Amino acid sequence: MIVLGIETSCDETGVAIYDSEKGLLVDCLYSQVEIHAQYGGVIPELASRDHIRKTLPLIQEAIKRAKLNTEDIEGVAYTAGPGLIGALLVGGSIGRSLGMGWNVPTIGVHHMEGHLLAPMLESHPPEFPFVALLVSGGHTQLVQVKAIGEYTLLGESLDDAAGESFDKVGKMLGLPYPGGPKVARLSEKGDSDRFHFPRPMTNRPGLDFSFSGLKTFVRNTISDHNDAEGGLDDQTRADIARAFEDAVVATLMIKCRRALEHTGMNTLVIAGGVSANLRLRDGLQSTVEKMRSKLFYAQPKYCTDNGAMIAYAGCQRLLAGQKDDLSIIANPRWPLDTLPAL
Ligand code: KG4
Ligand code: ZN
Repeated sequence: MIVLGIETSCDETGVAIYDSEKGLLVDCLYSQVEIHAQYGGVIPELASRDHIRKTLPLIQEAIKRAKLNTEDIEGVAYTAGPGLIGALLVGGSIGRSLGMGWNVPTIGVHHMEGHLLAPMLESHPPEFPFVALLVSGGHTQLVQVKAIGEYTLLGESLDDAAGESFDKVGKMLGLPYPGGPKVARLSEKGDSDRFHFPRPMTNRPGLDFSFSGLKTFVRNTISDHNDAEGGLDDQTRADIARAFEDAVVATLMIKCRRALEHTGMNTLVIAGGVSANLRLRDGLQSTVEKMRSKLFYAQPKYCTDNGAMIAYAGCQRLLAGQKDDLSIIANPRWPLDTLPAL
């Protein structure tokens, strides 16, 4: 089955075509980062307007690059949530309308299910069941995954998501939006022995997270080390970035170890934008090795938002016979564990 996937939940327009027999045929991405960077974060109205401009041309480009005709598309999948309501409505209106015009089954996909299944696009995909750590700009969740659609939430962030805390710390350190990858780059020059930040909620049982206190710790450390002009020297900035990244990674390592122990599973999958973080990948690799378990993640371009993961997830559901009626679905808040099994 050949499925067109459309992702417009936030600030990337992603369009991809997945073929259940041949794999991913094409993956096109347009990032709005430059538009939002000048405001230091995503402006929802500007995001929706830009998705309106970019989605249809990107679909045309994807079909052309895959050397297909519109008649070859056998299903349409679009991100139906969670995400920004206006942005979701753009992808949903276009996806649902194309599905109706082409007379093919259409399905609204859960964005985090897309992330969770993105490692399936790799040449050595994980096998069910597994524990998934979802770490994006909007979510930090540990999920027990029995099969597609069979999800049990083990724990989640009670406040900021991991990616959100990276972005906020980036802002405090004077880095442009989105701060995550830039904090990671800055931390490479940092000394891990200079500062030690807390590992939130690790000294009590449970699998929930909290990252907002860590953010306050960073803010206080910055103000303690500001010079006479109210700035930080370059080494101190890098040392703070390093201490912050170390604290997030150590916290995620502790919780992932606990989740594997709690479920008795031996496969860990990490997905979402923060799973592109190299120190996190290395840290979790050493965690799973000590537990005789295995770690799986997607290549960096499929960790952050993309159309390929939506085409893949939608294709699995369409192949199982699931499809939507003619409504356009946009669910800004949509719990992952309410999805149907295949
Ligand atoms: O999954 P994603 O593209 O969008 C959401 O669904 O939210 O995740 C974006 C988040 C941003 O907060 C970004 O700063 C973070 O992922 N991120 C990273 C890295 N690359 C992206 N955080 C830390 N290290 C990275 N290398
Ligand atoms: Zn995402």
